[in-house]
Amino acid sequence: MDCARFLTNVANRRKSSIIREWTTKFMANQNAINLANGMPNTKTFPFEEISVTYKSGTKVKLTGDELAWSLQYGPSQGYIPLVKKMREFQEYWYKPAYNDWDILFTSGSMDGCSKVFEMVVEIGDPVMIQIPTYDGILNALAPFMPKFIEIPQDHDGIIPESIEKMFEERIRHGKPLPKILYVNPTGANPTGTVLTESRKSRIYELAKMYNFLILEDDPYYFLHFLDKKPTTFLELDTDGHVLRLDSFSKILSAGIRLGIVTAHKDFIKRLIKHMESTSIHASSLSQMLLFKLLNTWDQEKLEQHFKDIQSFYRERRDIMLSSLEKYLTGLAEWEIPKGGMFVWVKINKIKDVMELTKEKCISHGVFVIPGHAFNHDRSKPEYHIRLSYSYASPEEIDKAVQILAQLIRKEIGKQN
Ligand SMILES: Cc1ncc(COP(=O)(O)O)c(C=O)c1O
Repeated sequence: MDCARFLTNVANRRKSSIIREWTTKFMANQNAINLANGMPNTKTFPFEEISVTYKSGTKVKLTGDELAWSLQYGPSQGYIPLVKKMREFQEYWYKPAYNDWDILFTSGSMDGCSKVFEMVVEIGDPVMIQIPTYDGILNALAPFMPKFIEIPQDHDGIIPESIEKMFEERIRHGKPLPKILYVNPTGANPTGTVLTESRKSRIYELAKMYNFLILEDDPYYFLHFLDKKPTTFLELDTDGHVLRLDSFSKILSAGIRLGIVTAHKDFIKRLIKHMESTSIHASSLSQMLLFKLLNTWDQEKLEQHFKDIQSFYRERRDIMLSSLEKYLTGLAEWEIPKGGMFVWVKINKIKDVMELTKEKCISHGVFVIPGHAFNHDRSKPEYHIRLSYSYASPEEIDKAVQILAQLIRKEIGKQN
């Protein structure tokens, strides 16, 4: 795989840090004397001990070297024992089908996506994105002024034929070809779709055929409501066309700010350079907490945790669906989410939902997101809203949908 072909001028101009390289070597050598770094002396820090208690009652204490490591600068790729552990985790869950892959810890998946965009998107480049898509991604891309190529979705996720058609058309007209496809395959934000295995295989074939990268942003992977775990693009990848983003935000804590990029090692090297000169590395304390958790829980416990999360959100989804049935039948349409945290609701008979969501809902104490947020062109009229069932209580969900229905009725009366 020729990764160099995908790199931007900015990525090529990034230099590696001598100091960071020495730090990584020092960290791996317990007996070395370090006169190299400006590492603060942890003796001067006010923390004697950091301890956490899991809900099961198990206590984990960080003292001595582990505490010192948690409070100190570390290697830009991640805490070395944790990087090793996460490689095993990736092997277990996704079994990448080639050897030259590696991982990098980031401050969440959003951080990883932004760094990948900077690595492969030149100003004005064409970029394929699933539409509608999470606004954080659209905003991360906006400074690159890309030519957005919209890849539409139906209830099974993005449609491979539209990619193929678009490539054929651009080739015929001599237009520049996109180098990357952004896709959020499991429990997509905002539609709740899960991209099917057969579509993933076809899209991967197309990626090889037309030589584009697949940015697989999958923070809801463990929040699917299917009988069997979805196959990932990473599992299909045989040579490095896939850059996978995992996130710990939805499964451990969003505030811990941890994610990982799994990709061809040549891309990971570039991303590490970026990390060295931006946040330096993901939080040491967060990484240590994750490391301790993965050492404390065995595989069975971890899988049980994922199953518990799935049942929690499935239950909340069903509560929201029954409130939608009760109050919005005839006023709106929606698909049953197959994963994630959101229902994408199409409001009938309202030409644009901005006023409804911004003026009416907020003044009645109900916050929902207008569909405009999920399109790079926010000026387009939208009749979708995104409802989240992750955070509100079952009673609040029911009350909010009831209020929403009243406001929609009023708005329809006004517009017609
Ligand atoms: C599709 C998608 N990507 C990325 C993120 C950001 O995740 P993280 O907290 O890991 O940065 C979100 C958060 O809602 C999301 O929905």
